[in-house]
Amino acid sequence: MIEDVIALPIYNSRGEETIKVWIKNEKGFYSASAPTGKSRGKWEAKTLDVKKIMSIFPRIKKNLIGMKEEEFEEVDEFMEQMGGKKLEKIGANLTVAVSMACIRAASDNKVYRFLNPEARTFPYPLGVVLSGGAHQGYTSIQEFLVVPTKAKTIQEAIETNFKIWRNIGKVMKIHGYNVGRGDEGGWVSRRDDLKSLELLHTIAKKYGAKIGIDMAASQFYKRGKYIYNHLGKRYTPKEQLDFVEHIAKSFNLYYIEDPFHENDLLGFASATRKIGALICGDDLFATNSKKLTDGAKKNAANSIIIKPDQVGTISKTLITVETAKRLGYKTIVSHRSGETGDTFIADLAVATESPLIKCGIAGGERVSKLNRLIEIWNGIKKPKMAKLR
Ligand code: PGA
Ligand code: ZN
Repeated sequence: MIEDVIALPIYNSRGEETIKVWIKNEKGFYSASAPTGKSRGKWEAKTLDVKKIMSIFPRIKKNLIGMKEEEFEEVDEFMEQMGGKKLEKIGANLTVAVSMACIRAASDNKVYRFLNPEARTFPYPLGVVLSGGAHQGYTSIQEFLVVPTKAKTIQEAIETNFKIWRNIGKVMKIHGYNVGRGDEGGWVSRRDDLKSLELLHTIAKKYGAKIGIDMAASQFYKRGKYIYNHLGKRYTPKEQLDFVEHIAKSFNLYYIEDPFHENDLLGFASATRKIGALICGDDLFATNSKKLTDGAKKNAANSIIIKPDQVGTISKTLITVETAKRLGYKTIVSHRSGETGDTFIADLAVATESPLIKCGIAGGERVSKLNRLIEIWNGIKKPKMAKLR
């Protein structure tokens, strides 16, 4: 039974305030922290300013005490009722932290086992090597990613991503680029979108890895055009489709996230039909089961990003995962650009047998998730990597 709930403002990897929650039961204290997105989608649940959360928290806490942590769906439902439309009254950042802490308390920190006792399939880490867009970068494309598809163990997969990330940093410096790091730990330099893809393509190949991108296209879609400042291009939706097709072919892209803005289901559908890659909806679906169902009717995308804070509770997140499985969409469990050391998504990716997890490569708040995957791998009988297409 929930005996006490504590909430405190803490900081994320970008130095923004976020919320950490502790749930106390007879065994002890169990905590979880909310991540924070920057390229947030319009369809996401609403976050609330942390100071406001702190002011309304006593009222919520009073109701949570006495509820049963094992019945986390009921806790989630109660918060959904209190939160109202898009959780705007209490904030999806608060609800996701409570929801995760509740499952930690119910499972005595063995989250993956609690959610799926049979789980033994591991996601491939889809790691960001170069950062752009809203994540302090130079390119319009937000993320340049690798997947170590040949790795046989989670350790080998993580190691391969680190090798690629390190090698690219070295090459960029040798080429005289002034290199920094973006919000998610990927390299940032004044190298444009196409030059970034060329470099990633060449180096990933050496390690037998495949590459992908998160275009986060809503961020650079302005008045009917996709604007690539450093390529000097302003593409109409039709030209955007040609461009995506062109880069998919030239660089043999395995994964393309949000190639169109978040309202363009038909753009996603054309890309899915024409390009033989995973076409993934992040802002498009916002981890929302209804948005996914509507999108699937139009054959928009063939995979979906799963970010619990986009819908605010783990119950809702699990419903979306189930919907995705039923519709034949691949699930990619994902971090946010503003992260803490919280590792819940690693457990979630294993529990949902997702083929991919997007949680970055470099930076303590990214590595914590990767290390948690290694820990889980070593605590499971006969673990194996997921089947990729
Ligand atoms: P965000 O971006 O966490 O800054 O919203 C991540 C993504 O678009 O995948
Ligand atoms: Zn995205």
